[in-house]
Amino acid sequence: MTDGRLTVAVLGAGVVGRTLARGWARAGHAVLLGTRDPDSGRIRAVLDELGGGVVAAAHENAARRADVVVITVPGDQVPDLLAGLGDALVDRPVIDASNRMGASEPSAVGAIRAAGATPYRAYNSVGVEQMAEPAFGGVPSDLLYAGPSSFSAVVEGLIRDTGFRPVHAGDDDGAYAAVDALGRVWIQLVFRAGYGRRLGFRILTAEDD
Ligand SMILES: NC(=O)c1ccc[n+]([C@@H]2O[C@H](COP(=O)([O-])OP(=O)(O)OC[C@H]3O[C@@H](n4cnc5c(N)ncnc54)[C@H](OP(=O)(O)O)[C@@H]3O)[C@@H](O)[C@H]2O)c1
Repeated sequence: MTDGRLTVAVLGAGVVGRTLARGWARAGHAVLLGTRDPDSGRIRAVLDELGGGVVAAAHENAARRADVVVITVPGDQVPDLLAGLGDALVDRPVIDASNRMGASEPSAVGAIRAAGATPYRAYNSVGVEQMAEPAFGGVPSDLLYAGPSSFSAVVEGLIRDTGFRPVHAGDDDGAYAAVDALGRVWIQLVFRAGYGRRLGFRILTAEDD
């Protein structure tokens, strides 16, 4: 970590992983895109499309080289992913963006903590459209996140670098649950209440008076 420039391992080369990787590379970070297939033509095409600043690596290799690890694989695949990482996450900040849809516990925060990492919960509460374009009418939308103060400056910097305003919910069980609950609000509004996927959040406080 030098001058705020980080090595960020984004584990998962799907639409969320690619979108976040692009944002952090544009902000000047070195991004390792973790994939099961780093040498494939498919991933070469992904890297071409992303432009500079992103290289592909196998998940464990990416995690070991990173200052910060971000999980963007399907929620039901996270246990498999973690099992293949060995001790690569020990003492690292790990941002969990995954969602286990329909499960009572949508996040992998417990498993990430059990792997010896410091877990942060973020990016799960908005659709990928907002990760690509977080501002509405020029105003950055908010990204609620949970996690301890130890790496919160680093995590907040990364959130800002993707164009959101970070809002810290705290680091107790209620904080992680609140971030998951906001994800459920997004799903309800988008898929059941008919607002459409272009939907973000803005939290107003006394500072906005
Ligand atoms: N889409 C959204 O709007 C959105 C918003 C917020 C949160 N999320 C959450 O973010 C995560 C990623 O969403 P996504 O839409 O990007 O999913 P996706 O397009 O399906 O991509 C997930 C990627 O994970 C990798 N993967 C799949 N199974 C794996 C396994 N067993 N082990 C390791 N890697 C595996 C695959 O990459 P390789 O084939 O290259 O290995 C795949 O491209 C999900 O948990 C989702 O719930 C999605």
